[in-house]
Amino acid sequence: MAFMPWSSALELGIASIDTQHHWLVDATNSLHDELSKSEPDRAVIGRILEGLVEYTVNHFVLEESLFQQYGYEENAAHKAEHDGFTAKVMQLLLQFEQGANVGVDTLELLKTWLQHHIMIVDRAYVPFLKSHGVA
Ligand SMILES: [Fe+2]
Ligand SMILES: [Fe+2]
Repeated sequence: MAFMPWSSALELGIASIDTQHHWLVDATNSLHDELSKSEPDRAVIGRILEGLVEYTVNHFVLEESLFQQYGYEENAAHKAEHDGFTAKVMQLLLQFEQGANVGVDTLELLKTWLQHHIMIVDRAYVPFLKSHGVA
């Protein structure tokens, strides 16, 4: 069983966004797989972390541009959550590049944040975006 199984609870029914969320979940599982090895490869971990940071930022930009385009009233609060998470993952990457190890705490942070954010915070915009024809 995957560390963070994809499930219908994570699906919002907006294809472009679901695809990106799925990618983030896959990357979290890849990180878990590498860290579970007897000798995790730092180069692989670094690539996954870099990909996660870059992809996360791009994903947030997509959501926030939709919020702005259609005037979503929770934009500011939602963006604040994005900014907090971006700061955390960038700090993780920086610490890793300075020699720190990535541990279980990092995996738990990714999993817990993604689950909560997708299931509750992202899910809240679904009726609004769908009412504007975003599919
Ligand atoms: Fe979001
Ligand atoms: Fe999202």
